[in-house]
Amino acid sequence: MHDQAQRLRSMVAQANRAASGRETRVITISSGKGGVGKSNFTLNYALALAEQGKKVVILDADVGFANIDVLMGVKPKQTLAELIRKEATLWEILETGPMDIKFIAGGSGFQDLLDLQPEQFDYLVEQLGQLQGYADYVLIDTGAGLNAQSLRLILAADEIFVVLTPEPTSITDAYALIKMVVNRDPSAHLKLLVNRAQTVGEGREAADKVSLVAERFLNLKIPMLGILPDDPNVTKSVKQQIPFYIAHPETTASRSLKQMIQTQLHGEAEQDAPPKGMKQFLHRMVRLFR
Ligand SMILES: Nc1ncnc2c1ncn2[C@@H]1O[C@H](COP(=O)(O)OP(=O)(O)OP(=O)(O)O)[C@@H](O)[C@H]1O
Ligand SMILES: [Mg+2]
Repeated sequence: MHDQAQRLRSMVAQANRAASGRETRVITISSGKGGVGKSNFTLNYALALAEQGKKVVILDADVGFANIDVLMGVKPKQTLAELIRKEATLWEILETGPMDIKFIAGGSGFQDLLDLQPEQFDYLVEQLGQLQGYADYVLIDTGAGLNAQSLRLILAADEIFVVLTPEPTSITDAYALIKMVVNRDPSAHLKLLVNRAQTVGEGREAADKVSLVAERFLNLKIPMLGILPDDPNVTKSVKQQIPFYIAHPETTASRSLKQMIQTQLHGEAEQDAPPKGMKQFLHRMVRLFR
């Protein structure tokens, strides 16, 4: 009898841990220049994390241009806009993609955020807050450049990935974005992702250019997330509407991504600040709106 009670207690404790044990890390994926590969990166990064057993939710915040859904050939039935209008719950707007990644289409929702009534905001926070403990990662794909809305998504996140390519314009625009973010929040956790590098050397050179200027003028060390190669299979998979990590698992982009994730997950505990999570993210969003 005593044993049974104890077993029950330990089962309850385990269930509680499972329910609240995930530390939800909110990452906003941004870039200065558009078209550098943010959406493709976000989706395939999510898949590579899912492969490592992580629960990932993507929030598509690119207003106007639905992206992630097109890239994976899934048509969302409902969007954040329905949630904001209180016509749907979180679980109703959460779409499922390949490898069981979850996905929320922003629709016109993110624009609506700008003029929300307080009770709508409360509902939004209550609903999206349920991602806390459910997801290991919430990845927010933003549109190109910096507007009032993407700046909020950036400033509220645990981490900001700045995607750039080795093109000079992309490098200067990445720095301009970083400067603007750091002016607003000097403690922002930024990381650099160089996409479409012809060689690892070229990728490193691009990252060095940004980080040297940031160190000199902003007194800021920006760690590197990684380098992804320019890979024709990425474009092919966009046309096929199948993420490259699934359509071409052995291509150079997929292999680099896998290696990046493994290195990252291995070192995460030591390097990264513990995530503040989804609830904190939403609270910071609210503060930034008011
Ligand atoms: N690693 C890569 N190798 C080759 N081509 C790539 C790579 N990454 C992205 N591309 C190409 O760049 C195009 C744009 O990518 P994507 O839509 O992901 O960029 P984005 O930064 O999200 O754009 P936007 O700023 O408009 O949201 C893709 O359709 C693909 O053809
Ligand atoms: Mg995009």
